[in-house]
Amino acid sequence: MRNVTLIDHPLIQHKLSLIRDKDTGAKDFRELVEEVAMLMCYEVTRGMQLEQIEIETPICKTKAKVLAGKKVGIVPILRAGLGMVDGMLKLIPAAKVGHIGLYRDPETLKPVEYYCKLPPDIGERDIIVTDPMLATGGSSSDAITLLKRKGAKNIKLMCLIAAPEGLKYVTEQHPDVEIFTAAIDERLNDHGYIVPGLGDAGDRLFGTK
Ligand code: PRP
Ligand code: URA
Repeated sequence: MRNVTLIDHPLIQHKLSLIRDKDTGAKDFRELVEEVAMLMCYEVTRGMQLEQIEIETPICKTKAKVLAGKKVGIVPILRAGLGMVDGMLKLIPAAKVGHIGLYRDPETLKPVEYYCKLPPDIGERDIIVTDPMLATGGSSSDAITLLKRKGAKNIKLMCLIAAPEGLKYVTEQHPDVEIFTAAIDERLNDHGYIVPGLGDAGDRLFGTK
């Protein structure tokens, strides 16, 4: 699918299998989600621009490459997207973090917005939206629409598990947004859960079920 990158690194696949396991408790689940987010962040930021500067090693002066200074904004979709933030901040500590609160109405499966706080210079940043689950795609798509309304121009979406239905929906709604996922699962069930998936990501992260 255009604009969709499946990140199938063996370390990521191994950790994702542990995350999926119903017997993995909240502490391990949280740590694994953070680790996978960090590993995925490495791939998602592959296109970052570099510039050359001059430095001095203990031996001599030399030219060296550093990031060209384009700022990054990480925007988790609450709640579950929060679980991916710390892993990413380990690699991009200077990133600013915005928050978008959405919950999926259990009857309609439509996202309902309840919170939005973004860095003021959102239009000048490379934005990475995080949410472990891309199910119908409604939450991610609405979050991206909101970000665009607030001025964001360069947006990527990073999830752990995507359903084909959600990928289709988001790529149709936002053909300019690159999506990175560690897995593309079979389908959605009648309750809008990803099969085989990992269950309810927010509840498993925060121990609320
Ligand atoms: C989950 C998940 C996504 C959304 C995915 O959040 O974290 O945000 O569902 O479903 P969709 O692609 O069909 O919109 P949920 O609404 O359960 O809220 P929570 O993170 O607060 O638990
Ligand atoms: N939200 C989740 O947390 N899990 C799913 O499988 C679908 C939506």
